[in-house]
Parts: sequence; structure tokens; C-alpha cells
Amino acid sequence: MAKKRIAVLCSGGGSNFQAVIDGIKSGAIDGKICLMIATSSSAYAIERAKANGIPYRIITKKGSGGLEAAYEARHEALMQAAPDIIVLAGYLGILLPKTIAAFPQRIINIHPALLPKHGGKGMHGHFVHEAVLASGDNKSGATVHFVDEGVDSGAIILQEEVPVIEGDTPETLAARVLKTEHKILPKAVAMLCKVNLTQPNT
Ligand code: GRF
Repeated sequence: MAKKRIAVLCSGGGSNFQAVIDGIKSGAIDGKICLMIATSSSAYAIERAKANGIPYRIITKKGSGGLEAAYEARHEALMQAAPDIIVLAGYLGILLPKTIAAFPQRIINIHPALLPKHGGKGMHGHFVHEAVLASGDNKSGATVHFVDEGVDSGAIILQEEVPVIEGDTPETLAARVLKTEHKILPKAVAMLCKVNLTQPNT
């Protein structure tokens, strides 16, 4: 089977993107990153793409002349790159329905909580960990799931728990969860690289 082509979408530091890069380097992931799309020109994920010779595009709301135009441009870039798998790795934004339809059961997202708890609109970054602490839950974790038209609502692929520790702040919990994200995202990508994926809607 030819190596799977992987596209990654990032909005920030790209540590999850780096975990996928490292998974490919170690041989755990039998794939090749054909494109990274950054949604901000200051995203450190760009430096990571440069350092690893990964083709990247910076497609921002401002640079595209608005959010809808940016989503369209991201759609076009993905259709052109024709990846087998799309990974949302710290990607803040949505995908157009036609993008999701073009890559059925081939788009995955990493969420820093135990979905279906603490997910949905607005639940990203520190908001997630604040909600976990406010709920009094004694555990949190990370989830990799397929992306469907909802927010954080697609079928769950992998999940791993971490404890909430007395005195945790959103920052200390985020750091513990992030380590788990870096474990399960590459694992999920490696799994998808081994299976025959749904053929794209032509
Ligand atoms: C982190 O909050 C992580 O939990 C979530 O996206 C944010 C940035 O991660 N998945 P990254 O370092 O850009 O991958």
C-alpha cells in the first residue's frame, strides 16, 4: 500500500503537529505529510514545517478577505493536495460541509477532554480545562475523534484519561492533558495509515 498522504491544519504552537512529525520519523506512522495549513502567520507550527521540509500554506481570515473566503481557500488547498487523511491539530475554526463531505471518515481532531464531556462550541484551549475544574470531575483526558458537521461530535477513535489533581489550575491540567494528546494523536494517525479508508466522494 502506498504511503498515506497526511494534511495537517494548525492555528498555534503545533506541538501536536510535531508529535505526528516525530511519529513519522520514528517509523510508527507509515505516512507522509503533504501539506500543513496554518491559520495564523504567527503560528509556531510554521517553524516546525520549515524545519522539517514540509510544504505549508498560511491561509488567514485577514489574508483571504474574510472568514468564509479563508474556509473556501482552505478547501481548495486541501482538494489540490488530495490527502488521504486530514488531521486538525490545534486548529481553531470549522471546515466547510463540502470539505467534510469530500473526505468522509478521513478527517480527525484532537480534543483536550474526555468527549462527549466538555466539548462543543467555544470549548477549546483553557476554556476546556476551566470547565473540567469547575465541574469537580476527578479526571480529564484527551480524545481523538472523526470530524463530522457538528463541533467535537464525531465518532471517537481513541481516548486516554489523566487525573485531575488537588490544586490543579487550568494551566497545570492543560500541560498534563497535552502530554496525553501527544501520545494518542500519533497513535490514531498510525492506525488510519494502516487501513483502507473510505473512498472520497467524487
Ligand atoms: C492545545 O490546547 C491542545 O490541547 C489543543 O490545541 C491546543 C494547541 O495545541 N489540541 P498545539 O500545541 O498547537 O498542538
